[in-house]
Amino acid sequence: MFFLDSSDPEEIKDIFAWGVVSGVTTNPLILAREAGGADLGKRIQGVLAASHGHVSVELTTETEGAMLEEAQEYHSWSPERICIKVPFTAIGLRVTHALTRQGVATNVTCLMSFNQAYLAALAGGTYVSIFSGRVRDMGYDVRPVIAETRAQIDREGLKSKIIVGSVRHFMDVNESLFAGAHIVTVPPPILRKMLHNPKTDETIREFNTAWANRSTMGAPLAAAASSAPKPPAKMGQSG
Ligand code: E4P
Repeated sequence: MFFLDSSDPEEIKDIFAWGVVSGVTTNPLILAREAGGADLGKRIQGVLAASHGHVSVELTTETEGAMLEEAQEYHSWSPERICIKVPFTAIGLRVTHALTRQGVATNVTCLMSFNQAYLAALAGGTYVSIFSGRVRDMGYDVRPVIAETRAQIDREGLKSKIIVGSVRHFMDVNESLFAGAHIVTVPPPILRKMLHNPKTDETIREFNTAWANRSTMGAPLAAAASSAPKPPAKMGQSG
């Protein structure tokens, strides 16, 4: 399953129309880069209107009380669709646990290891977000982290879904899915790259050119149909 890692309502609307994306993730860096001066509430309303499914919005405060207050504000924007993204710390786990008990969807984020992801799942995170690119930045292979987290979630019947984020390359997406990610959150430029294959483009061009030039190619369709062999007569039919 794919989520879109973006806060750009136009990009989100365009790609959601493909019918292949089920949710959106944002983070403070994405929002600062794409909409630095914008009002956060208005920007997220734009994202909600352009998409369906969960929209993750990340907490930026660092004490338990402030985080819960911030979470309540985001949650009020769309209780069914806003997912509170909680950075992984001891306080983050407390906040995740408290929000889970209130029935608020959570996405525990910035996870770099199996142990962190397992703790996040035990605390009740709706999603646990493993950061592929940043794990690789440290020189580690992210695939065992994803696979071992998935195996543990399945063994214990935990409800959390693994999102793999921090996707930098096309192959990160495939490797994450093959390793057991439930969801990969993909930046729009990487999702767009999946559309193109030179052989596909060449084949479509060949078919459409043939159709456009059909009057100069081979037998006309009507003549071809009338000269086609007739189907065998059914039992009991003659002629
Ligand atoms: C998604 O949930 C993450 O916040 C995002 O993919 C992080 O990407 P980055 O490591 O490229 O900043």
